Amino acid sequence: MSAQALLKVAGLQMRFGGLLAVDGIDFDVRPKEVFAIIGPNGAGKTTVFNCVGGFYKPTAGDIVLDGHAINGQPSHQVARRGLVRTFQNIRLFKQLTVLENLMVAQHLKVNRNMLSGLFATPAYRRAERAELERAAYWLERVGLKDVANREAGTLSYGHQRRLEIARCMITDPRLLMLDEPAAGLNPQEKIELQQMVDGLRNEFGISVLLIEHDMSLVMGVSDRILVMEHGKPIMIGKPDEVRNDPRVIKAYLGED
Ligand SMILES: Nc1ncnc2c1ncn2[C@@H]1O[C@H](COP(=O)(O)OP(=O)(O)O)[C@@H](O)[C@H]1O
Ligand SMILES: [Mg+2]
Repeated sequence: MSAQALLKVAGLQMRFGGLLAVDGIDFDVRPKEVFAIIGPNGAGKTTVFNCVGGFYKPTAGDIVLDGHAINGQPSHQVARRGLVRTFQNIRLFKQLTVLENLMVAQHLKVNRNMLSGLFATPAYRRAERAELERAAYWLERVGLKDVANREAGTLSYGHQRRLEIARCMITDPRLLMLDEPAAGLNPQEKIELQQMVDGLRNEFGISVLLIEHDMSLVMGVSDRILVMEHGKPIMIGKPDEVRNDPRVIKAYLGED
């Protein structure tokens, strides 16, 4: 089971001064799996993402992506191995257009030779055309074609969320990490988000690591769920096991 994991996290710990924000966290994410992390605010969910994504260097533990130890590696290096994320607070280039956001994302991935850009060689123009085609594909795929030339900052919240996901997907990831993607979405947008996550997994064979408070989304889309409280794990289980676990009901879902 663990041999075939795409991502394996073992004994993860993150200490901020006197605060043990994450401690003793173990989980793995399998190919094509949607794996969710839930828990009350402050439980340490985003900190787990920050450790896995290379934004924090964990104080202890192992993070292995497809057989490579990635703990302590910077986020751009982790991204090149196929692990990308969205942020709890949307981070787009708000003054750039929707299309430009998708072009920039590819440049970060392709890491193109600057000189070939300056001289606009045929190879450069070919690469640029391919990038434009990919961007057009993703605009269509996430339903943003009609707003391609709008500044990203002027989009509705739901559209910004979709653009963030497209910006991740255009780099051809193997593991997509989504931090509260349904926050601020209306019920219809949440349904569309769930269909999108499911569709991306099925179509592209990616794995998804999801932090989310919306229980109907979590229960509907996840294969397995890690429940955290105060930085520690409560349990890992399938949606039905989690939903019916008295510890989870007490800690998270509330007793009322
Ligand atoms: N960079 C940081 N410096 C200090 N404390 C932090 C930092 N990031 C998170 N924390 C603290 O770690 C705990 C877990 O936070 P977080 O991972 O954001 O929780 P969650 O995403 O589950 O709401 C909180 O007490 C938070 O204040
Ligand atoms: Mg968080």
